[in-house]
Amino acid sequence: MIIGAGPHAGAVLDVVRSRGVFEVAGVTEKAGSSHSARPFHGLPLLGDDAFLESARAAGVTHALLGLGWRHMAARRALAVRARAAGLLFPAAAHPSAVACGGATLGPGAVVMAAAVVGPYAVVGEHAVINTAATVDHDVRVGANTFLCPGVHVGGGAAIGADVFIGIGAVVADNLKIGDGAVIGAGAVVLCDVAAGAFVAGVPARERGPRPAAGGQA
Ligand SMILES: CC(C)(COP(=O)(O)OP(=O)(O)OC[C@H]1O[C@@H](n2cnc3c(N)ncnc32)[C@H](O)[C@@H]1OP(=O)(O)O)[C@@H](O)C(=O)NCCC(=O)NCCS
Repeated sequence: MIIGAGPHAGAVLDVVRSRGVFEVAGVTEKAGSSHSARPFHGLPLLGDDAFLESARAAGVTHALLGLGWRHMAARRALAVRARAAGLLFPAAAHPSAVACGGATLGPGAVVMAAAVVGPYAVVGEHAVINTAATVDHDVRVGANTFLCPGVHVGGGAAIGADVFIGIGAVVADNLKIGDGAVIGAGAVVLCDVAAGAFVAGVPARERGPRPAAGGQA
């Protein structure tokens, strides 16, 4: 099952379907969400978050997070809840993605079409490596971190947990990006980024407070 029924959940579903290993039972969505009101790519809505506690009894064994990057706190909370309910989180990689030798994907990590995870890179649990993004050798990507389409991360960089890196951004090799940082679309990051900072531009510089949670993303 996929937890969440927004746009990101659709992208996660595509990875799972392309892989063909699991049959997807359906999706859950928080009570009252606008996403609950529409069909979800042919899948049933299994219920709201409370379904997690009855999923095993209903024959569901595995789950992936489908909530987007603006819902980091909910992602973490729902992952804990799902695990407590006995659900397992597989790593999921699109058949066209490449995981090089020695690369590891944590539980619940999702690697989308044409992405490349370099040699000995470590992708943390529930992290998302989106379409055609690349992380080079020895990069560490923290839990729940999102790399948007076309992001490139140079070798040896250490990306913290709950980080968002916008579409097309570049992070130079061996940098440290702190937990919860946000990197704007198209940024070229040439220096370390502090935890919780929001940087954007070429070269990237601080742009004020971290963008707020919520919304569709
Ligand atoms: C990070 C992001 C979400 C911030 O959005 P936001 O909170 O609405 O930020 P704002 O638009 O208020 O921008 C704040 C300031 O940073 C600047 N800024 C924001 N993003 C920027 C970017 N990518 N490059 C350069 N400057 C940027 C704005 O111009 C603004 O500057 P100002 O205060 O001088 O006017 C957005 O910039 C972004 O990069 N989105 C990418 C989304 C994406 O990759 N989607 C793909 C999903 S698969």
